[in-house]
Amino acid sequence: MRRVTFTQYLVEQERKRKTVPAELRLLLEVIARACKAISHAVGKGELADVLGAAGTDNVQGEAQKKLDVISNEVLVEANSWGGSLAAMASEEMEEPYQIPNEYPKGRYLLLFDPLDGSSNIDVNVSIGTIFSILECPPDVTEPDESSFLQPGARQVAAGFAVYGPSTVMVLTVGHGTVGFTLDREVGTWVLTQPRIEIPVSTKEFAINTSNARNWPAPVRRYIDECVAGKDGPLGKDFNMRWVASMVADVYRILTRGGIFMYPADAKHKEGRLRLLYEANPMAFIVEQAGGAASTGTQRILDVQPGKLHQRIGVILGSSEEVRRVEGYYAQAG
Ligand code: AHG
Ligand code: MN
Ligand code: MN
Repeated sequence: MRRVTFTQYLVEQERKRKTVPAELRLLLEVIARACKAISHAVGKGELADVLGAAGTDNVQGEAQKKLDVISNEVLVEANSWGGSLAAMASEEMEEPYQIPNEYPKGRYLLLFDPLDGSSNIDVNVSIGTIFSILECPPDVTEPDESSFLQPGARQVAAGFAVYGPSTVMVLTVGHGTVGFTLDREVGTWVLTQPRIEIPVSTKEFAINTSNARNWPAPVRRYIDECVAGKDGPLGKDFNMRWVASMVADVYRILTRGGIFMYPADAKHKEGRLRLLYEANPMAFIVEQAGGAASTGTQRILDVQPGKLHQRIGVILGSSEEVRRVEGYYAQAG
C-alpha cells in the first residue's frame, strides 16, 4: 500500500483543488507537529509529572490541569514564529494572543482547545486537541476579539487529534474529512482514513444523562424514545456511550455513526461547549463527513458568534437522527 503522509496529502489537495496554499500547509504542519509533542507528553503520564492539577483557573473559571497548561504552551510556542498567523486564541487564554513583533504576521487566525476532555487526563482515558482556522479579515493588522467572531461556515480548515490507544488526527480543508494515524516510531502522520463518511442512521446516542432533569422537552422526548427502543416510536433498540471527551465521542461517530448531544438546558443556558474552538470545528468536520450539526434550531456553522468564549448547544452526528431532533425542536416551537 502507498503510504501517504500528512504533508503529501496537503500538497496533493493544493494540486488538485487549490485549497491548501503553502502558507496554510505550513500552519497545518506546525499544528500537527505540536500535537505530536502533546501526544508524547500524554503518553508519558506520571513518568513525566504531567498529571494532576495546575493550581490555576482558566477564563471559564474551570480548574486547569497541568496538561491543559502544557498543551496550550506547546501550541502557542509552535505557532508563534511560522509567519502564517495574524493571531491565535485558546480556551486557556482570556484574550487573543498576538504574534510577537520579531516575527512576520500572516493571513490566518488559529483557534484551539489545547486539551479536550480534561476530566479524563488523570484516569488514562482518551483526550485530544481541537483546532479551527479562519482568514483574518482584510485590512486588520492588529486582530482583536472581533476579528475572530466569524460564523463557522467561514473556516478554511479544522481538525482534531485524539490521544488514545493510537494517536489519530482528523482533518478537513473543505473537501471531505480524512484521518491520519501517528506512526510513533517514524514520527509521521500516515493517511489511514482517506474518506470518512458518517452513516446516515444510527442506533447509538451520546449524552450526559445526569443533566436529564434540566433538558429541554425535545431532547427529553428524543432520549425517551431511544430508551424505549424496539417498543417505542423509533422501532429499534439503541445503545448509549458517553466518554466525556468530545474528541473521542466524535471520533467514534465518524467511525461508526451515532448522535452526540450537549444541548443548551436549564442549567447550561447557553450550552456547555464552546462555539469557536469546539462546536465549529467539529461541525465542519462532521458536515464534511456527510453528517449534520445543529443547535436544535439552527445549523451550527451559520451561528454568528458574539464572544470569543461563547458557549452553544450542540447536536451532531448521523444526519437522520440530527434532523429528527431538529424536527422535535420545531414542533415544540
Ligand atoms: P474541556 O476538557 O476542554 O473543558 O472539554 C470537555 C467537554 C467535552 O469534551 C465533553 O464532551 C464535555 O465537556 C463533558 O462534559 P461533562 O463532564 O458535563 O459530561
Ligand atoms: Mn473541550
Ligand atoms: Mn480543553
